[in-house]
Amino acid sequence: MATEADQIESLRDLFEYELEQMYYVENQLVDALGTMASEVTNDKMRMGFEDHQEETERHVERLERVFDAIGAEPRMRETQTFEGMMADKEEFEAHVGDDDLRNIHHLSAGMKNEHVEITGYQSLLTLANKLDLGDEVTDPLEENLDSEESTLKELKAMSEGSELKSVLDRLL
Ligand SMILES: [Fe+2]
Ligand SMILES: [Fe+2]
Repeated sequence: MATEADQIESLRDLFEYELEQMYYVENQLVDALGTMASEVTNDKMRMGFEDHQEETERHVERLERVFDAIGAEPRMRETQTFEGMMADKEEFEAHVGDDDLRNIHHLSAGMKNEHVEITGYQSLLTLANKLDLGDEVTDPLEENLDSEESTLKELKAMSEGSELKSVLDRLL
């Protein structure tokens, strides 16, 4: 939450506020994606989560370049959007009793997360462009956005693929 000494009164303040939240999310995701990779029993999904974990380490580095470009220290601001998704994950784990159901759920949780990240980067880019913050700020944000979009596409292809269809048929 913003404190009194930490008021959001301008577009620039808003940009930094959202950047700090994104920095928190990307940092948390490095661990969360590793956990999800270890929990799924489908090889393609495991590799997908592992690949995106590595890419997420790059996302963190690019955000550090953005902080540097605006002359600010990298700072994490906790966001309940991410904490809520993690709480949902814990709730699910407490109840799930089948590996394939976990695989299906993790795939959809992964897509949900990519949507959250994509929306976050679109919002940051809208603000950065309006504020005319320059390529040093927009290039890394665009690279991260592209990476999230291609991950979402890969997860979507998996969710529509023949392998998952046969799993769904088995569970019917
Ligand atoms: Fe990311
Ligand atoms: Fe992502």
